[in-house]
Amino acid sequence: MLDKKLRFDGRVAVVTGSGAGLGRAYALLLADRGCSVVVNDLGGARDGQGKSHVAADAVVNEIRAKGGKAVSDYHSVEEGDKIIQTALDNFGRIDIVINNAGILRDRSFARISNSDWDAIQAVHLKGSFVTTQAAWPHFRKQKFGRVIMTSSASGLYGNFGQANYSAAKMALVGLSNTVAIEGQKSNIHCNVIVPTAASRLTEDILPPDIYEQLKPELIAPVVAWLCHESCTDNGSVIGSAAGWAAKYQLVRSPGKVLRKHISDGVTPEDVRDAWEKVTDMSSPVHLDSIQEETGSIMQSLEELKDKKTAIVESEEEGVFEVKDKDLILYALAVGASITEESNFRYLYENAENFSALPTFWILPGQAAVGQSGVIAGAIPGKEIDFSKLLHGEQYLELYKRENPTSGNVTSKCSVADVLDKGSGAVILVDVDTFDETGEKIAYAQMTVFIVGAGKFGGKRTSHKAIAPVDVPSRKPDAEMSEKTSLNQAVVYRLCGDRNPLHIDPSFAAMGGFNKPILHGLCSLGFSVRHVLMTFAGNDSSLFKAFKARFAKPVYPGQTLKTSMWRNGSRIHFQTSVTETNSIVIAGAYVDLHDVRPTVHMRNVSSDLMSEIIFDGIKAQMEAEPDKVKIDAIFVFNITKGGKAAGSWTVDCKKKDVYKGEPKDGKANCTVTVEDADWVDIAMGKANPQIAFMKGKLKVKGNIMLLQKFRVLMKVESKL
Ligand code: NAI
Repeated sequence: MLDKKLRFDGRVAVVTGSGAGLGRAYALLLADRGCSVVVNDLGGARDGQGKSHVAADAVVNEIRAKGGKAVSDYHSVEEGDKIIQTALDNFGRIDIVINNAGILRDRSFARISNSDWDAIQAVHLKGSFVTTQAAWPHFRKQKFGRVIMTSSASGLYGNFGQANYSAAKMALVGLSNTVAIEGQKSNIHCNVIVPTAASRLTEDILPPDIYEQLKPELIAPVVAWLCHESCTDNGSVIGSAAGWAAKYQLVRSPGKVLRKHISDGVTPEDVRDAWEKVTDMSSPVHLDSIQEETGSIMQSLEELKDKKTAIVESEEEGVFEVKDKDLILYALAVGASITEESNFRYLYENAENFSALPTFWILPGQAAVGQSGVIAGAIPGKEIDFSKLLHGEQYLELYKRENPTSGNVTSKCSVADVLDKGSGAVILVDVDTFDETGEKIAYAQMTVFIVGAGKFGGKRTSHKAIAPVDVPSRKPDAEMSEKTSLNQAVVYRLCGDRNPLHIDPSFAAMGGFNKPILHGLCSLGFSVRHVLMTFAGNDSSLFKAFKARFAKPVYPGQTLKTSMWRNGSRIHFQTSVTETNSIVIAGAYVDLHDVRPTVHMRNVSSDLMSEIIFDGIKAQMEAEPDKVKIDAIFVFNITKGGKAAGSWTVDCKKKDVYKGEPKDGKANCTVTVEDADWVDIAMGKANPQIAFMKGKLKVKGNIMLLQKFRVLMKVESKL
């Protein structure tokens, strides 16, 4: 069904300014797909002066010569009603209007004359208005219509010397936004195209070598799709050039309330002091309608009205000294050991790529929050009982691939929101951490739960909360288990959190625990490390972000099992205590810049370990496609206990790896091997030749090809 050709039989389109350039390409493509086309063109010069029939007639002749249906129209778009009439007179209906006609009168802003201004607005803006409006009643009656407005990057971004043109082009986006809303109920869709193409309008603007690559024919299919009855987009702004397309959207910063109470006014100083937050685009928000925008403003007003939930606006700063010793201590505290060679980079200051484990970057923020009064003052009029505080959730995002291994970092923390959950209060604390140059390196959100502090009449949810995500319901793709030591919390305390709850039995008893508990962030450090080891080659620079919810306490000495599920570059995980089988970290994930699967024989237990080997081969193929010089398709039949357990295709011709038989063509080499033997071979533990001689590796077809296959198994040295 999906490869069925998109047709326009029975449809009638007006394409304005289609005697040349982009319009011509649109007209030719639509006609080729069965559409009857009115080829409108005034035939004037680039600045709009003069007129001629030549351009429109040439395109009409071209269409007719190929058996298509087209008529010429020579009116200016300023008389758009006459162009629509041409469609009605010749074809009896109108379905599609592509407002494309355009001229240029480039002048620096100071030199734009009134006539230059008026001419540009008349052709681009007024022309699109009158032409579309003339088609409107017909669209409404037949409950179908497709309109294209043509904007420009000059409008979206501005361009020197094009103030008149930029104004008209951006106005067309506004026009389309509202036309889209008004047309929706009658199945009239209006979208904007932002083209970049080689034409007479751009011949002196674009560099010659780029100009060559920008054929209008590469944009026409995008416009044709937007005009098709099966395209549901309405109100979209689509950019296209050189065989590429993308969607534009307006975003804004989350914004900031400038006053503390509903009765307060706003002073210019309030604005100045809040300006950094007001203009902070690091977490952009996109809203779909004016209603959503108004709703969001009303919500901030509601929050302000409810004095009880009004957030005490304080941002506090803490400086944290980063020393190599602290990075190493942290790595030890979350279980990194030199028994795993790849851990050297976290444990030895002279190691190549010496760096902190990514979760280390929670510490500066946590220290800043600890020293500050942000939590204490989070709920006005309510004193926080810190013995009732539980660390509920944690989020961390790193902005840079490499982070400092020494020097000072500064963390700024503030309360993002306070929620009333009935049984307690939830306080969301945001922390931004900056390096010595002032560049932001990390953002963290700490969610704390204060038992018994609820029922103050506050709201239950917040759009600022970064939510945990449920793990998939299938079996985990990989698991890794590690026993914590009895001294685990003793070591972890040295990283900063010296709460006696983690070492002093009497203090633990006061909190209702049998014995001191492990820091939640320590278990988390183990799990994120497991994810890095399994899916990122233990490389901290591949880490982007994590989110986790602490579900239950862990006692030092217990075994942590991290279950992992890969979903693209997101690795979902869940941590449980093996001894009690209870989940201690839930709804968690790590986002990676890149996935580099690695197998740890001792720890990974999924149904077929070969799956991860093939993931590795795929990653290797994607990373270095040029190295794959084998013109062959391999099929691997993996067995378990002698029984067929799964098969994979490694298609070196198409550079693809997937489960199952070849989608295209036949296998040149079929390998049958036990799951464990294949992993041993991939890990370099077993020699493939010997495995072959021993009958462990059965090969059908061209056996020599398998020799060449080794290049793809570069991953194995890391496995
Ligand atoms: P073009 O100059 O090759 O084609 C424009 C056509 O419109 C010409 O054939 C011209 O005779 C016709 N025209 C001008 N005034 C008219 C009027 N009053 N009534 C009827 N026809 C009229 O230019 P191109 O590049 O194909 O431009 C098409 C549209 O795309 C224009 O709206 C332009 O502003 C827009 N655009 C083009 C970009 C590009 O990179 N080529 C970039 C951004 C926008």
